Amino acid sequence: MSSKTSTLLDPSTALEHLKTYDHSDGLSIQELMDSRVHGGLTYNDFLLLPGKIDFPASDVVTESRVTRNVVLRTPFMSSPMDTVTEGDMAIALALLGGLGIIHHNQSPASQAAMVRAVKRHENGFISDPVVLSPSHTVADVLDIKARLGFCGIPITDTGMVGGKLVGIVTSRDVQFRNPSTSLSDVMVTDLVTASQGITLLEANDILRDSKKGKLPIVDSNGHLITLLARSDLLKNQSYPLASKNPITKQLYAAASVGTRLSDRERLALLVEAGLDIVVLDSSQGNSIFQIDMIRYIKEKYPELEVIAGNVVTREQAASLIASGADGLRVGMGSGSICITQEVMAVGRPQATAVYAVSEFSNKFGVPVIADGGISNIGHIVKALTLGASAVMMGGLLAGTEEAPGEYFYHEGKRVKAYRGMGSLEAMEQGKPGSPPQTKVNGVHTGSNKYPSPKKDRTLENAATSRYFSEDSAVKVAQGVSGDVQDKGSVKAFIPYLYTGIQHSFQEIGVMNIQQLREVVRNGQVRFELRTASAQVEGGVHGLNS
Ligand code: IMP
Repeated sequence: MSSKTSTLLDPSTALEHLKTYDHSDGLSIQELMDSRVHGGLTYNDFLLLPGKIDFPASDVVTESRVTRNVVLRTPFMSSPMDTVTEGDMAIALALLGGLGIIHHNQSPASQAAMVRAVKRHENGFISDPVVLSPSHTVADVLDIKARLGFCGIPITDTGMVGGKLVGIVTSRDVQFRNPSTSLSDVMVTDLVTASQGITLLEANDILRDSKKGKLPIVDSNGHLITLLARSDLLKNQSYPLASKNPITKQLYAAASVGTRLSDRERLALLVEAGLDIVVLDSSQGNSIFQIDMIRYIKEKYPELEVIAGNVVTREQAASLIASGADGLRVGMGSGSICITQEVMAVGRPQATAVYAVSEFSNKFGVPVIADGGISNIGHIVKALTLGASAVMMGGLLAGTEEAPGEYFYHEGKRVKAYRGMGSLEAMEQGKPGSPPQTKVNGVHTGSNKYPSPKKDRTLENAATSRYFSEDSAVKVAQGVSGDVQDKGSVKAFIPYLYTGIQHSFQEIGVMNIQQLREVVRNGQVRFELRTASAQVEGGVHGLNS
């Protein structure tokens, strides 16, 4: 007994004793990410070791530079996919401090209308209300009520925002009416409206005094601009993290384009609509087409931020950085709907790709966006730890209310369709001559809220161009279609992700992304590889139900 205790060290020297080890517990990032030793890693292949908690999680800030000149307060972006990001998603994410990239598998005019809706959005006003024309019927109103849950609908001569406001229908106007009755016979024409430019506060007063449910806002010619709903006023929140252009104070708008000559015409429309950030959407970004496009944009629109990609190696990154890219999108084959690695035999495990590219591009002040393969908060934290400035999510957001398309039931679960842009369905959707609004598994891509010209010659197969297959007679799919479960509104889901990151940073012992980068680089943050059984242990296991 006495000989055993004599070998024990004095507990009060524990911290001092740590210094006798020649390295800290776990691996440094450089050791972890040495792919010659461990192969390529995914997010699930490693863990961060905990640090020391000495501040509340609410003190953590997640501000991050996502292009050379754009800083976001939350590092969340949504993918430019036709089942993920249209106007509603872009507005909601920008209000919450992130950024939605409006997809280009639609006509340029409809994409530009979505960009314009983001730029014009003022919190509280519905910039893209559902509108009908006098020749629509009571059945159309009932259908909207069944699908979207409301039936206070402004009526314009064209059936669209921007048309002359001629009436409004509410639930009482259509109750007990024959479904085939025209709205011209039931709509209320004695309207209370407000003029464009009115503040929320003033509009609030008018709604209160008029006792109406909806307040249409019109321009000096009586054309419908926007709408205010009493129900929205009641729950009107403020968004302190909103992603706004510091000069114009409008929400940031971002959209994707391809790299063909016709994309230059598309881009001109988007810029005219107020675009701040363009994403060059390609599965393999290191191409002469993309390099030419970056140079063209930098020359023609020097104010526009260009996110180039996708890349997974520093050699690819170097080409795009040298051409003038302001940010890089990283990922090839990591997306949840992606089969590129299997079909094409190219790609890279995502954690290794994010580390390799960020380690290089951050030296030039060009931020990295980790795109694809994010399915939980832990993946987001790992991407940031590896050097990314933000994450881009498709599948994680496709089931939210703000994603395009409607919910439907599949095997008893409420779901929305989600499909890869390289899936046969998405490639068909973008083909010239295919209808601009088709419905796939309950998805309407391109809603009637944004005007979509009947036939637009510049609508070429945007999805196929992402995979360089627009000229191929035989299409080889690089993505699949499926559905994802209902996740509610991003207005609840993004705050959940944000709070999760705050808690994770607290466990690591860092208060912001810059500090995280610093302590990862200098070896203070340590890592551990996870064996297959460690991954099983880390998941839920051993429960009966
Ligand atoms: P997720 O968040 O894991 O669902 O991945 C979304 C990302 O997958 C997108 O941002 C794209 O980079 C990528 N992606 C979209 N469509 C396809 C496809 O059809 N094949 C391969 N990758 C795709």
